[in-house]
Amino acid sequence: MTVDQGPSRTALTAAAARAAHLIVDAEPRIFADTLAEQLLGEHAEPLLAYHRGQSDHPILTSARAQVVCRSNFSETRLARAVNRGVDQYVILGAGLDTFGYRDDLAAGVRTFEVDHEVTQRWKRLAVADAGLSPRGDVVPVASDFARDHLVADLEQAGFDRRRPAFVSWLGVSMYLSRGSIAATLHAVGALASGTELVFDYILTDDLRDDVGRLYAEQVSAVAAQTGEPWQSAFDPDDMSRLLASHSLTVEAQADQAQAIDAALWKRTDALAPSRLAMLAHAKVD
Ligand SMILES: C[S@@+](CC[C@H](N)C(=O)[O-])C[C@H]1O[C@@H](n2cnc3c(N)ncnc32)[C@H](O)[C@@H]1O
Repeated sequence: MTVDQGPSRTALTAAAARAAHLIVDAEPRIFADTLAEQLLGEHAEPLLAYHRGQSDHPILTSARAQVVCRSNFSETRLARAVNRGVDQYVILGAGLDTFGYRDDLAAGVRTFEVDHEVTQRWKRLAVADAGLSPRGDVVPVASDFARDHLVADLEQAGFDRRRPAFVSWLGVSMYLSRGSIAATLHAVGALASGTELVFDYILTDDLRDDVGRLYAEQVSAVAAQTGEPWQSAFDPDDMSRLLASHSLTVEAQADQAQAIDAALWKRTDALAPSRLAMLAHAKVD
């Protein structure tokens, strides 16, 4: 595969953490992204080597806990929405998300994958290299949350804004300014009534525990070096007010311990919940 510019580095590391969960962690699995390793292609081995070599390292266990927890939280709610008849799924900052290629539910869903053009170009080639086929309709949408054209870009790709959608926005808000986050919430809040949004955000420093603080310090420094600096953190009350101001009613806010079935945290491996990020589920009024 030849591309002049690579995909988002954080998208690669998130996919590698999902792939590594199936390799280095014990049962019960929190989330099974069975295509992540395949989609990573040549990037898989170097990234998986970190997890294989130091599976108990606190930064790597936190990374795996964070990505599998948010995917479980989101796809559990997505499945409920699809079973209620929602057939438009918008993945904001899709990166290497594999839902459209992996899950039987995708067959009846139009999945809009929104990301920067360069990451999408890379992903198109990676999907072809990995021999993956979409289960239903997977529609790439090139859009930049900092440019405030999200709904127009979606509509141009065939999104029907008169009907409700399920929107996920995972592992992205921390890379955006408060202004870009507000603009994106505004755009989602203006979609059809009944539209649901699931996303995660980083807790302010005073609300993190020791593991969350260590992770934030070290990972945000690396992200800044690779051109994707963390730009935002929130207190849950502040986030609830921000959501309400954009016509979004909070259905749930959960930290990692609360976000998934408690039985999944009864583990023999090193994965454990930390206070680093919150998951939010909101609905358009
Ligand atoms: C950490 S990755 C998460 C990818 C995926 N959601 C996951 O959980 O694996 C963040 C993604 O957001 C995208 N992203 C960040 N800022 C963006 C922006 N301003 N506009 C569009 N996409 C953006 C990046 O390109 C990257 O693919």
